[in-house]
Amino acid sequence: MTMNLQPPPGVATDRREFLKRSSVLAAGIAAAPFISVPQRTYAANSETLKVGLVGCGGRGTGAASQALHGDRNVVLHAMGDIFEDRMKGSLEQIKKEHPERTMVTPDTSFIGFDAIDKVLASGVDVVVLATPPGFRPYHLKKAIDAGKHVFCEKPMATDAPGVRLVMEAAAVAKQKKLALTSGFCWRYNPAERQIMKRIHDGEIGSPLSMYTVYNTGSLWVKPRQPGWNDMTYQMRNWYYFTWLSGDHLVEQAVHSLDKMQWALKDEAPVKCVAHGGRQVRTGSDFGHINDHFSILYEYASGARGYHFSRQQANTASDNSDYFMGSKGVAQIKAFAGLRITGETNWNLRSREGLENMYQVEHNEMMASIRKGEPINDGAWMAQSTMVALMGRMAAYTGQEITWEQALNSKENLAKWVTNQEEEVGDPKFSWDMPLRVPAVAMPGQTKFV
Ligand SMILES: NC(=O)c1ccc[n+]([C@@H]2O[C@H](COP(=O)([O-])OP(=O)(O)OC[C@H]3O[C@@H](n4cnc5c(N)ncnc54)[C@H](O)[C@@H]3O)[C@@H](O)[C@H]2O)c1
Repeated sequence: MTMNLQPPPGVATDRREFLKRSSVLAAGIAAAPFISVPQRTYAANSETLKVGLVGCGGRGTGAASQALHGDRNVVLHAMGDIFEDRMKGSLEQIKKEHPERTMVTPDTSFIGFDAIDKVLASGVDVVVLATPPGFRPYHLKKAIDAGKHVFCEKPMATDAPGVRLVMEAAAVAKQKKLALTSGFCWRYNPAERQIMKRIHDGEIGSPLSMYTVYNTGSLWVKPRQPGWNDMTYQMRNWYYFTWLSGDHLVEQAVHSLDKMQWALKDEAPVKCVAHGGRQVRTGSDFGHINDHFSILYEYASGARGYHFSRQQANTASDNSDYFMGSKGVAQIKAFAGLRITGETNWNLRSREGLENMYQVEHNEMMASIRKGEPINDGAWMAQSTMVALMGRMAAYTGQEITWEQALNSKENLAKWVTNQEEEVGDPKFSWDMPLRVPAVAMPGQTKFV
């Protein structure tokens, strides 16, 4: 069952019933206007595509550079970030690689929480959204409302209201014929595309059991500096705050869950149970996120998905996926080999010579814009994000969580953290606002909202 934007799968098969049950989502979908404004179309390489980058960190810098390699007539026109040092470093790096194509000037560089608005108003055609994912739904909505093509890093949101906003924006992007390309990069990887095609063609039979693991060491921490207020501290350490990152399951291991979803042709899980906690991230330097998760997803087709992820220093790392079917087993080692064993035997020992997935994303997005048939990854990218959120909800609460419950969750993390729960509309952000920090989740005590 694929999330085809209206209505989402698993919530209800009957649209009226679904609309009755989910007032927030219903309001969004019903309100999605039919857009009849003709969009600009681009003859192949006859007109310059102007790119704007919002979120000039590690991934944003890479993605902007890949966007510039993605087409013969594309320039970087504008940049936006909340920190000047991040933007400066990013600009220097991009300029080094693309001296001819970097057209950013002081008039098209914007610092602050409103940088998104200024980049969108600066005359860009395409925007790369690469901030921490807590901002993504709001930025995506603004970008689509402003009529921009979007490359949108994963994950797409850190809570269910955010996913619902992404779904609405994706529906509008479709109507407006705007590209919405997802940063779930493995879907653009030539090697993974080969093995997934084989799985979809039935080479392992029906996938019955899937096991994915995303175990790594620890990550960066930025110690609090004199003069940093709470917002500055959390922004510099966004990874450790669930409203900004979604927790490591949603921010990183979501790649593994996305591969499970891909193997099942984007069938939504029915329910899940999960364990999770923090054994080594005990200090206040690590905000309140977990350092390990394990989840069991159950699907209506009878398939089961088992996922393990861990971020603990000095532990064994592994990033692998196994898909067991009635006729064989498919196995993926991230950045290494892939193989199928069973009735069919196939393997790809080396990825040498295959195009870089991060580049393929941009090549295909630019080509789709030129062709006037823009890519729209909205449905599945929102769904995969939701699958990760559902796992986090189950681990945090210690309860079994159904797809319907998860999708209809009312927990708006950004509004809670910024004390704007009573306000209508999107949350507002400023440097001096008081922030709440949630307690570390305790299964059996933390409530599902
Ligand atoms: N697809 C992949 O393989 C992959 C790899 C790495 C990161 N990512 C994703 O990319 C995103 C960014 O990750 P990163 O590693 O580049 O982090 P980063 O911290 O290096 O970069 C984030 C940047 O966004 C800026 N920022 C924060 N809030 C902002 C706002 N409201 N407006 C404008 N700028 C803002 C920060 O100052 C920073 O420069 C995350 O969603 C992450 O999951 C994806």
